[in-house]
Amino acid sequence: MPTFPARVDLARLPTPVQPLPHLSRELGVRLFVKRDDLTGAALSGNKVRKLEYLLAEALDRRADVVLTCGSADSNHCRATAAAARQLGLGVELLLKGLRGASGRGNLLLDRLLGATLHDLTPEEFERSDALLSRRAQELAAAGSRAYVIPMGGSSPLGALGYVRCAEELAGDQRDLGVRFDVIVSATGSGGTLAGLLAGAELYGLTERVIGVPVSHDGAHFQRVVGALLDGIRGAYAPGLEVRARAAHLCDGFVGDGYGLVADDELRSLRDLAARTGLILDPVYTNKAFAGLLGMIRSGAIAKGETALFVHTGGLFGLFPFQERLRQLDLQDALPVHLAE
Ligand SMILES: Cc1ncc(COP(=O)(O)O)c(C=O)c1O
Repeated sequence: MPTFPARVDLARLPTPVQPLPHLSRELGVRLFVKRDDLTGAALSGNKVRKLEYLLAEALDRRADVVLTCGSADSNHCRATAAAARQLGLGVELLLKGLRGASGRGNLLLDRLLGATLHDLTPEEFERSDALLSRRAQELAAAGSRAYVIPMGGSSPLGALGYVRCAEELAGDQRDLGVRFDVIVSATGSGGTLAGLLAGAELYGLTERVIGVPVSHDGAHFQRVVGALLDGIRGAYAPGLEVRARAAHLCDGFVGDGYGLVADDELRSLRDLAARTGLILDPVYTNKAFAGLLGMIRSGAIAKGETALFVHTGGLFGLFPFQERLRQLDLQDALPVHLAE
């Protein structure tokens, strides 16, 4: 078993596993959802599990401010801001496209939490690692001690949050009396998938842990996840052999690109919410769920199998889409002929 370093208690755990009985009957696949959207409220989603380890290290290093980066509506940045504040730390966020953002979703909460926000152009965002280090140096010169969290919290240390989630899933299987044949989740910076893959091996879960990329392609994430697994093995789990088997990645669901959402994707999100009560986010989990449905359609997930979808959160990312959803509702509304 891995040697887990210190962790701060931030997430409401264990998260529930919820069956989707109606959809399961319709599709012929037994579907369950790991509700990691319920790790908290403002401080919720998959990032909280990673932050438990990352911020423990920040406290251990006596940091007084946390620095990280992401898109203007980043779930990771919002969760980092909420967690940092909860622990009494300052927080600075380097955000791509801050100036043009609607400010209705995660950004609203970043502002409420009093995070210091820096706007990055797309070109600057390409060099965000260098800009984070530079800002940390500036803060050091001003007498502050910064702790830098990489994009998405996806370092080997952050990924341990999902190694631990895999341990939780082993308990969920026992409690429910099921075995998940396949586990599916969204892949944005790779830490969640790397942690789940490592944890699946360590705790005897299925080998079919599948990431659905929502930004780059599968080949990119093979490299990213491979490096993260090397890091996990090197620092925390020397016996881990998971690198030998390639990460499973389900390409074809990035759609128009990272953060870009087509009308049909919004319709699917709306339909699933109305049919099951499950609310996904447009940028990550809705694309990943489309991947899950695609794998069922293609037979990659066979009839009669049991599939677990990890709902990684992102609810606040829905609010910037309110106008688009309203337009769709108007477009799709059936004509009402009251006189007939
Ligand atoms: C809601 C949500 N789901 C999934 C992911 C992807 O997780 P990871 O970055 O660990 O691949 C993210 C990352 O930002 C996210 O915000």
